[in-house]
Amino acid sequence: MITLKSGVGNFISLRNKQYSYFAGNNYLGLSNHPEMVKDVTRSIEKYGINFSASRQTTGTSDIHLQLEENLSDFKNCGDAIVFASGYMGNSLLLHALKDSYSSVFADSMAHPSILDGIPKDISHVNFYDHRNTNHLEDLLKKHKKHHQLIITDGIFALTGEIAPLDQIYFLAEKYNAILIVDDAHATGVLGENGRGTPEHFKLDGARNIYQSETMSKALGAYGGFISADKETIQMIRSKSTFYRASTALPPPIVAAGNFSTKYIKKHPELRKRLKGNAIFIRTGVKGLGLKTTDDITPIIPIFFTEQHNAKDLSRYFEENGIIVPSINYPVKMDQYIVRITASASHTKDQIEKLLYILKKWRDKHGTSKD
Ligand SMILES: Cc1ncc(COP(=O)(O)O)c(C=O)c1O
Repeated sequence: MITLKSGVGNFISLRNKQYSYFAGNNYLGLSNHPEMVKDVTRSIEKYGINFSASRQTTGTSDIHLQLEENLSDFKNCGDAIVFASGYMGNSLLLHALKDSYSSVFADSMAHPSILDGIPKDISHVNFYDHRNTNHLEDLLKKHKKHHQLIITDGIFALTGEIAPLDQIYFLAEKYNAILIVDDAHATGVLGENGRGTPEHFKLDGARNIYQSETMSKALGAYGGFISADKETIQMIRSKSTFYRASTALPPPIVAAGNFSTKYIKKHPELRKRLKGNAIFIRTGVKGLGLKTTDDITPIIPIFFTEQHNAKDLSRYFEENGIIVPSINYPVKMDQYIVRITASASHTKDQIEKLLYILKKWRDKHGTSKD
């Protein structure tokens, strides 16, 4: 674990020294954007820090309504709802839809927010092998008497793999199941307009797919959101006790969300740059013979079977002025990961230095695959 002495950008400050930063989830480089900081400062001057009430009592402000409108516009949906945490999005959906299913089917590497979000009285929970749609279908077939709900991460947080959503959607249609995608890492990243995994697979607007999303990663702000048609959003607003009984998102966060939803619409080149940087890094990692994943996402893991190799590589990066963490994260995995994250704002020089240091480590230690 590191203790930051600065905000996160291409470089961070740590122990009074600058480090090149390939960690976190600041995919589009927006979390420190100077214009966003100006908007946020103005919002604090106007509204202070906290609306100090839940949205349904006295906590709804004009900037919340603006944010929900901006999100609906960005997602090309009828409406959107924002709430205090991306982590809670799966729970909001799983609880709001509870009367429509009796059995959950989740990927074995599901994010903890999915597992925590399953209502306590849903006792029929099945895990299919990671991204294995044959196994998913076996389970759906076996339990077809139940009303079924499938839930998966869109991009997996640790491995950067994309869920095979096209095949999962096909199964959802075949077995008349509801489908939820946790798109925390795909919002702003995947799809022609950055609308996430469904758009990546040309399933944008498809019937029966619900997305749980966050503003805390590519959007550079904070807080969860769900976008859908007006009736669905109204249903979530009325059913979610978390939404109804927790304090509204604070002004600086709302202002940041308002800035970034508009900004990413105007700047599609950010996504293009991000993809280019991710490909550059992933190709370099593969070229060194290290084990990683194939998808085009900005999460580029390096897999190790021994924890000491992952820790040693992360330490070596740090000794050479680069932060790339060896990850300790509550997702079920049988390998150890050094997780490189690309950002649209990384420069070619920065990436070349990252790959040069990685090569030096590899030359000393080999690929450490076994
Ligand atoms: C897949 C996934 N879902 C949900 C979350 C939670 O989102 P937030 O951090 O915005 O609450 C995260 C990570 O933070 C995540 O990786």
